[in-house]
Amino acid sequence: MARVQQMDVDALTPGDVVIRSEWSGINFKDALAVTGRGKILKRFPLNAGIDVAGRVESSSDARFTPGDAVLVNGMGLGETRDGGFAGMVRVPADSIVGLPPGLTAFEAMTLGTAGFTAALALHRMEVNGQTPALGPIVVTGATGGVGSAAVSMLAARGYRVIAVSGRPEHDGYLRSLGAHEVATPDMLQLGTRPLESVRFGGAIDNVGGVLLAGLLRHVQLWGNVAAIGMAGAADFDGNVFPFILRGVSLLGASSANCPMALRADLWNRLGGELKPPHLAEIVGGVVPLADLIRACEQVLHRKVRGRILVDCRA
Ligand SMILES: NC(=O)c1ccc[n+]([C@@H]2O[C@H](COP(=O)([O-])OP(=O)(O)OC[C@H]3O[C@@H](n4cnc5c(N)ncnc54)[C@H](OP(=O)(O)O)[C@@H]3O)[C@@H](O)[C@H]2O)c1
Repeated sequence: MARVQQMDVDALTPGDVVIRSEWSGINFKDALAVTGRGKILKRFPLNAGIDVAGRVESSSDARFTPGDAVLVNGMGLGETRDGGFAGMVRVPADSIVGLPPGLTAFEAMTLGTAGFTAALALHRMEVNGQTPALGPIVVTGATGGVGSAAVSMLAARGYRVIAVSGRPEHDGYLRSLGAHEVATPDMLQLGTRPLESVRFGGAIDNVGGVLLAGLLRHVQLWGNVAAIGMAGAADFDGNVFPFILRGVSLLGASSANCPMALRADLWNRLGGELKPPHLAEIVGGVVPLADLIRACEQVLHRKVRGRILVDCRA
């Protein structure tokens, strides 16, 4: 059972650097951890929260000095070591990224692991040849943290974006982020034959299951589908024809253990050319630590959109 309580910095899992937390955000994984609905915490008790941005309080590593603005996303935070839903976080220096010049701590956590993963997916797709000329990109689970960042980022980069959401009432929100079309999964009318007509250049999929399998059948020659999440289902039932007859690639993106060089590069790009122009609109709410548990329930009940920021300063 989760609760908010006082603890000493000395009781935190070990590390070279203590960060005074300013902001964190609620990711799907955090909501599963805090509510106990997913096996996210690899030990117990543990502070949850896979993201944090703040300032270095103390450091025994020469690369960091008190006052440095830093962030951590993934790297075991909130899974194997005490996480970002806390006033103080202690981590190994090797897990820290300097706050990129183009982002405030609040903006960095508006992105958080969600925005980072959208960037990681886009990076992998573009390294693999994705361009706007291949056709529209479908973003599923579009109103969520990853989805919202992906819609805004893709549209700003010149892609035509089809935002797919199970909540049609958020049509206006998704169009305000840059979506050219908004559809429910049913409205897409995806076929079930091994290969279907080409309709999409690629996809960033947060949902998995039949939606992922259906999308793959409609992807353009040499298009890419980034499988990010499993908000709907972890399994999917597909066939190899999109891969062997159209050269379609199914790409993974694992933010938690992204190598540090790529991680730092993507964060710098997120402060520059990849920064979603609609970052402020993506903020779906701000909660203090005291309201975290209720907010995590709302995330899992699909009652929020965009990102819920956590104010760790109190
Ligand atoms: N691979 C990685 O490194 C990585 C990193 C971050 C997140 N993820 C995964 O990516 C997914 C999205 O994460 P997030 O932080 O963006 O979560 P989020 O903010 O909670 O958004 C998830 C979205 O998925 C849709 N959704 C929720 N429940 C659903 C259900 N039962 N069936 C179908 N759609 C559902 C909803 O969008 P609509 O209401 O608009 O349909 C919801 O807004 C999660 O599965 C998460 O675990 C993976």
